[in-house]
Amino acid sequence: MHTPQTFAAILSAMFDCVPDPMVRLSPSGNLLEQNEEAEAMFGTWAQGRSYVTLFRQPMLAQAIEQVLQSGISGEAEFVQTSTAGAERYIVRITPLPEAELGIVLHFEDVTHLTEVEEMRRDFVANVSHELRSPLTAILGFIETLRGPAAKDPNAQTRFLQIMQDEAQRMNRLIGDLLSLSRVESQQRQRPDQMVDVIHVISRVQAALRPVFEESSCKMVIERPDGVLTELRGDSDQLTQVFRNLIENALKYGGQGKVVTVRLREETGLGSLKGRLLCIDVIDQGEGIDPLHIPRLTERFYRVDNHRSRAMGGTGLGLAIVKHIVQRHRGRLKITSTLGEGSCFSVILPIE
Ligand SMILES: Nc1ncnc2c1ncn2[C@@H]1O[C@H](COP(=O)(O)OP(=O)(O)OP(=O)(O)O)[C@@H](O)[C@H]1O
Ligand SMILES: [Mg+2]
Repeated sequence: MHTPQTFAAILSAMFDCVPDPMVRLSPSGNLLEQNEEAEAMFGTWAQGRSYVTLFRQPMLAQAIEQVLQSGISGEAEFVQTSTAGAERYIVRITPLPEAELGIVLHFEDVTHLTEVEEMRRDFVANVSHELRSPLTAILGFIETLRGPAAKDPNAQTRFLQIMQDEAQRMNRLIGDLLSLSRVESQQRQRPDQMVDVIHVISRVQAALRPVFEESSCKMVIERPDGVLTELRGDSDQLTQVFRNLIENALKYGGQGKVVTVRLREETGLGSLKGRLLCIDVIDQGEGIDPLHIPRLTERFYRVDNHRSRAMGGTGLGLAIVKHIVQRHRGRLKITSTLGEGSCFSVILPIE
């Protein structure tokens, strides 16, 4: 048989092995001991204090009281707010087999789970919203075509054109969503083809020629002699990366400007090791406020919602770019000077 003292010693040793905060309360609800993680959260002053002054959260206090009275284990949520934001815990409250030993509280950090859940909810809400606007427009025009415009061929031609544009927008959105989910599911699978990045960029340039002509823009490729441009990659996905970056430089760079694609080699940058190929896509647009830069790669994030939508953008382009670059074990770096232009750098390892 263990005495209450040896039992407490065993418990204390076990506390130290648990990576989550754990505390033991006496039968009257005062803190008897806590492990290092709990001490970091509540401080050393917590020793001997009552749970009522310690946690100050009615739900948790109520659950503790119930366990102390009934001897049946319980559970409650605990939220710790600091300057870094709110941390969410599930607290499991378990009575020890001998009442005089008190009860044990285990704090499981579920902040991350809540964040993932929030992101999922936001994403569904965003997708629904993005699909609803064109759909509402289409439904509205169908009604007009059946009613007021039933005998007006001019209005019919105009409205059908708008309906087609809106349907194409939905189509693009679904295409981009599928692309994003495909890249995400391949995230851990490194590409195994050899790709020449300069070929990819030339192909994108050729495909975008009509858009360049329409906006009277020019594209210049700068490639110093001897820069290696062959690397392990997925040719279709890299095409998607440069197509979006060059298209953005055109769309947000303004009429009659120059888009420069500069290739250069680097060795080791930050956490990236070895030989690297950097491809800078540089425009002469208005630039981006530093406030927006960290958020540009979020799904559906646009600096100017109205302008981007008017240009047919879905706001998923840079999110797809970021995922593809990550799959290639590379980085996307964005720098910009207001009034001068922006530079989107794709940095890829060459083996
Ligand atoms: N070169 C740039 N100059 C200024 N702003 C830019 C530039 N590239 C992107 N942005 C801003 O970042 C936002 C997100 O870009 P992203 O490519 O993800 O979406 P989009 O171009 O609006 O739509 P999509 O690429 O899906 O057609 C844009 O809406 C725009 O506000
Ligand atoms: Mg884009």
